[in-house]
Amino acid sequence: MTSPLTKTADRVLSIAPPPARSLPNGRAAVRLLAAAAVLTAAGLYGPRLIAAAGGAPHGPDLDLFLAQPMVIQIHILAAVAAVALGGLILSLRKGHTLHRRMGWMWAGLMAATAGTSLFIVGLNGDVWSLIHLLSGWTLATLPLAVWAARRRRVDLHKRVMTGLFWGASVAAGTFAFLPGRLMWRLFMG
Ligand code: HEM
Repeated sequence: MTSPLTKTADRVLSIAPPPARSLPNGRAAVRLLAAAAVLTAAGLYGPRLIAAAGGAPHGPDLDLFLAQPMVIQIHILAAVAAVALGGLILSLRKGHTLHRRMGWMWAGLMAATAGTSLFIVGLNGDVWSLIHLLSGWTLATLPLAVWAARRRRVDLHKRVMTGLFWGASVAAGTFAFLPGRLMWRLFMG
């Protein structure tokens, strides 16, 4: 038989607030600080650097975008979507159905980005440039990362995917905005 005391204790426990969430661990705090430092530096020096290079930020130049060959248009759309979706995936919980669905979409977008880049030249005349090494690396390691996920090799999957996000997607994206390149002309020219 349940005593009145136990019943009262059960009621109190059932309405007790959930335990306080622990403070972010050290690594998360370092990442937050690094992100804040990068954003502050970009806010302080970004406009001056852009002006020094002769640019002025503006909305996308749609006429210039539409004048590009379709392969470049697809490359840009897939690459920008991959950066946005990749950031979202990394910031959400992993392992669930949503993670898997978004992960497949991201892999498709990265394959489209790297695949289309094989048909784009210009930085090195009519032949492939050093960035094409990144395209080859992406096309070779994406299947490896998917295979690792399906085999529950979580560490390998995480390492390859985060490496591709920061090393290929974000780095190549940043490089694409250098003065003179198309993204610069689309947004700063
Ligand atoms: C947000 C991300 C990205 C943006 C905005 C972007 C944008 C561009 C644009 C506009 C071009 C053609 C015009 C130009 O060279 O200025 C280009 C070329 C290229 N992109 Fe991307 N890209 C991105 C990500 C990537 C990624 C992830 C890869 C490889 C995995 C890649 C590989 C290349 C290559 C190899 C070229 C041809 C360079 C050459 O002319 O030799 N890009 N990109």
